[in-house]
Amino acid sequence: MTNKKPFIEALNGQRQWPPPVWLMRQAGRYLPEYQTVRKEAGSFLDLCYSPELAARVTLQPIERFDFDAAILFADILLVADGLGQKVSFEEGVGPVLKPPLTQDAVAGLDGGAARHRLQPVMETIKLVRAALAPEKALIGFCGAPWTVATYMAAGGTPGEHEAARLWAYGARGSRQSFQELIDLLVEVSAEYLLSQIAAGVDAVQLFDSWAGVLPPAEFQQWVVEPTAKLVAKVKAGAPDVPIIGFPRGAGPGYPAYVRETGVSAVSLDTMMPPKMARFLQKLVPVQGNLDPMALLAGGEALERGVDQLAETLGRDPFIFNLGHGVHRLTPPDHVGALVARLRDCPDPGAA
Ligand code: CP3
Repeated sequence: MTNKKPFIEALNGQRQWPPPVWLMRQAGRYLPEYQTVRKEAGSFLDLCYSPELAARVTLQPIERFDFDAAILFADILLVADGLGQKVSFEEGVGPVLKPPLTQDAVAGLDGGAARHRLQPVMETIKLVRAALAPEKALIGFCGAPWTVATYMAAGGTPGEHEAARLWAYGARGSRQSFQELIDLLVEVSAEYLLSQIAAGVDAVQLFDSWAGVLPPAEFQQWVVEPTAKLVAKVKAGAPDVPIIGFPRGAGPGYPAYVRETGVSAVSLDTMMPPKMARFLQKLVPVQGNLDPMALLAGGEALERGVDQLAETLGRDPFIFNLGHGVHRLTPPDHVGALVARLRDCPDPGAA
């Protein structure tokens, strides 16, 4: 057995055929075996903080679909929870963070507590790495500072993001205090990712789910600049570990994000047109971007989507993924069909 990981080779700029594949939210509610463990765990957070159960659900999609990479089972909101803002997940509501963060509470957020609180995640990583075949990669992750701040300020799903956006404009707390929050998130997230790397992840992904709501100057200030700082810190501690950025919805901001943050690769959202994807692929390896609804639909929509992506992006370093997470109603068979179809596609790079 080889120790080469096709997923890591692709991130390092070596085109692979067939392309390595994994899916955002590949472990989750669409899998009956996930539901079983989820019930056993009790709450979603209990699952995230129970290394043995979290390791089991991390491995489930690899066992069922033979993906090239596993993604650590955890959540981007664990960092907020670790910092002392209590997080829970309510059925039908989504995440609830109590109380919503205001400027007076920023100084009370505790980076040291976060380090301690997030230790179970490192145990999960060690268990997964020990069970995972050497040619499979393990991906660590965190939320990007802007996206985590939007949840912290809103106290839950950020709606129109008015809590964070008004705060960032100085209309709901000072701009200085918002900058302090972002700086703290940069620090804590960098340390968190370096701990994940020390525990055994092979690459990390930064999820900036709400990068797309900001106008250009604010996008630069709250997405590009903090991400660049975070990337620099992680690279300083772990120069060889690839970092994938996912500035979801950034549209025309994608090229500046790629050029100015220093990410090793970029994850493309569902809306990204093929021409711009090809342009970005001249700069860094790309990952994406099948419509999760094409996967939910299955059949011809799925086959066409897979074939087109393989054909347009398969000529250069490329990792197959969705443009966002797997939808919870997705039939698992459709995921199996995706992987089979992709691995059967003709090589567009062949003479
Ligand atoms: O399989 C994987 O991708 C790994 C684990 C993972 C989860 N969440 C598990 C999860 C990862 C990488 C995330 C990232 C995450 N979490 C993001 C960024 C990606 C994106 O979707 O934009 C965000 C914004 C969150 C915050 C979050 N977590 C929300 C808004 C919700 C509730 C929404 C919902 O689907 O109910 C979660 C819960 C969550 N995170 C679930 C899973 C499997 C469902 C929880 C359950 O079992 O009830």
